[in-house]
Amino acid sequence: MVFPNNRMRRLRTTDSMRRLVRETTVAVDNLVYPLFVRKGRGLKEPIESMADCFHFSPDMVVKEAEDVAKLGIPAVLLFGLPDKKDKTGSEAWSEDGAVQLAIRQIKKAVPQLVIITDVCLCAYTSTGHCGLIKDGKVDNDSTIELLAKVALSHAQAGADMVAPSDMMDGRVKAIREALEKNGFPDVAIMSYAAKFASAFYGPFRDAAESAPDASTGLTDRKTYQMDPANVRQALAEIALDIEEGADIVMVKPALPYLDIIYRARQRFDCPIAAYNVSGEYMMIHASASAGHIDKDAAIMESLTSIKRAGADIIITYFAKSAAKILSLPH
Ligand code: PBG
Repeated sequence: MVFPNNRMRRLRTTDSMRRLVRETTVAVDNLVYPLFVRKGRGLKEPIESMADCFHFSPDMVVKEAEDVAKLGIPAVLLFGLPDKKDKTGSEAWSEDGAVQLAIRQIKKAVPQLVIITDVCLCAYTSTGHCGLIKDGKVDNDSTIELLAKVALSHAQAGADMVAPSDMMDGRVKAIREALEKNGFPDVAIMSYAAKFASAFYGPFRDAAESAPDASTGLTDRKTYQMDPANVRQALAEIALDIEEGADIVMVKPALPYLDIIYRARQRFDCPIAAYNVSGEYMMIHASASAGHIDKDAAIMESLTSIKRAGADIIITYFAKSAAKILSLPH
């Protein structure tokens, strides 16, 4: 059918007409809101590198979790900061660590909210690496034992889902086994399966105080996180994590890696999550603050593109903003 029988603009004439033929929609059901917790009482401290984000103490994060649930967002993703860092990151599996305390309090106050926890060592180790350092290298096999301990401590505190973000080999299997063996068969695993060594984590590393320490001689995470140039390898990582027992697989970051999300969607049937990371967040924020772009429109356009590429779940610091935008009348 050619012009004038075919006029593509006919279906774009009004907002209602456009809604009728819209192929992709972002729903509040798809969103996960990340939260940062640290020990203390009465704390809600603005995070300098990430506008509108805060460090909460466990008592204060409860109110925030209630607000998140009221907006209809089904899940939060918890990150913790320790009081003290050490070589092994031991506070990560402490029964009274900030994350473990926060889980218990949130579960009590907002039981319907899905609590996902980030499982990693980088915020807890004095080296700032996601694993133990042995002979000048990030050691895989001793690290995954510790990650299993961290995941188990989160499950014991009441987490519904654990999300390992370290990129060690075999960690999903180690975590799955630890959960099964200790009576947590229903705790789900969302693996950061295809996580790239990205410049877009910068604001987060300031927020989590988790940048690799220069004294280790290893100033980046390129020996464990993926090379941004690789797509086949990303699919291999995802396939392995599914085989090891991941329930949900993640691609991270989101916007510079939409092709990875798309390819993963073609190949795998399990739910796919995408992490719209701190750098992506701050680019929109900074640009909107400078008056260059319309913030709400940019938020919804990026979330829509992530969904269109094939993600089911979007982890985003814009979750609350998006929930508010989505609840506005047409
Ligand atoms: C920890 C972790 C990171 C992020 C989530 N978990 C940082 C990193 O790998 O250095 C990044 C999240 C973001 O930038 O929003 N391993």
